[in-house]
Amino acid sequence: MARFLIHGGRKLFGELNITAAKNAYLPILAACVLCDDKIVLHNYPYYSDTESMCKILECLGANINKEGFDLVVDPSTISSWNIESELASQVRSSIFMLGPILGRFKKARVAYPGGCEIGARPIDIHLAGFRKLGVKVSERHGYIYCDASQMSAGQIVLDFPSVGATESLMMASVFLKGETQILNPAREPEIVDLQNFLIKLGAKVSGAGTGKIIIRGVERLTGGDYDPIKDRIVAGTYIIATAMCGGDVTFKGVKAEHLASLIDKLDKTACKIYAKGDKIRVQADGKPLSLGKIETSVYPGLPTDLQAQILALQTISKGSSMVCENVFESRFKHVPELVKMGADVHIKDRVAFVRGVDKLYGASVSGMELRGTASLILAGLVAEGYTTVSGSKHVDRGYHQIEKELSVLGADIERVED
Ligand code: UD1
Repeated sequence: MARFLIHGGRKLFGELNITAAKNAYLPILAACVLCDDKIVLHNYPYYSDTESMCKILECLGANINKEGFDLVVDPSTISSWNIESELASQVRSSIFMLGPILGRFKKARVAYPGGCEIGARPIDIHLAGFRKLGVKVSERHGYIYCDASQMSAGQIVLDFPSVGATESLMMASVFLKGETQILNPAREPEIVDLQNFLIKLGAKVSGAGTGKIIIRGVERLTGGDYDPIKDRIVAGTYIIATAMCGGDVTFKGVKAEHLASLIDKLDKTACKIYAKGDKIRVQADGKPLSLGKIETSVYPGLPTDLQAQILALQTISKGSSMVCENVFESRFKHVPELVKMGADVHIKDRVAFVRGVDKLYGASVSGMELRGTASLILAGLVAEGYTTVSGSKHVDRGYHQIEKELSVLGADIERVED
């Protein structure tokens, strides 16, 4: 696996177009299973997770062609309702396939999903939702077997607003006669984007982004083209990087309202942020101030996918802070590595207590999961001397050539093959 070699201390300047959102693209790719006609998805992001999802679609029988940054999916040839464990273990989002496979074939055999090492990540909420719609679900030898021959529209109340469960159930219900309601759904912008995509193909879905999603069954979906939203987590990562390094950077493509929880916290404490239309300008000079108590939560709260990067920022901010991780139970694996670089952080259960230090120092550190590895890269950008960060395969899951994007802004970072 490659490593990143970073020489810290450079400020960041310039403009950057943000790539399409991994978490919007993955369910949209899964939703292609529901369709028989050609679909063209614009601005395809070359993340390893989206590549894995394309591989799963191909294994189900779809034909996929990449034409520049357009992804052309022909799902008419899909004939399989089976996802083997080798594929499912590569990407947790394979579980998103369950809903659309049930919608299309009324049966499925899907291996348990893989994904980031950030906690147990059960799928009980997904399965409880399917059962509520009349699906017979059994679990044997690492596989989930579903018989949806009796599946019918109904009302589902989610115990927790799980992003994946909301998306799976939306997709599974598209062809059910009558009205399906999902109460207490996740409200993330990527859910709204999935709704918009499904509507573009002819589905009748409303309410995404609110406390009730309503799906009225249609007979079939037609093909079409779609441009998924840009990645608020990638943008957030680079906004935090600018706040840490200092400089003046404009990020293009992401709606500031999708990052309101981050911008509200950082603006005037860590940097100045000006947002207009789909542009976010960040100006940073001098030492950031501590953000005090920070808690991750479901949207519109502070995303758990930005926790590790915010924690890296706190390690060099003036004062003390508390970072509470409320969404996943095991998301502080980057902390011992930050400590190797001179950070002062103590973990108790789901809370990290951080005392800002004057400086971080270059070290050889290991990333263990996607966002944690990104946070170590940010730490390397401000550390004195050289830092090497291993774990490129994790960061490639959700950033397209992170070293190139940061280099464009003036960072001294390169990918070194082992
Ligand atoms: C999605 C995002 C991920 C993000 C997360 C939370 C994608 C591809 N991934 O993941 O980047 O970090 O939302 O914003 O969109 N849970 C259960 N049972 C379930 C489902 C979830 O207990 O059946 C728990 C999880 O263990 C976790 C919490 O609910 O503690 C949130 O999970 P969920 O919202 O489902 O996240 P994902 O869809 O996996």
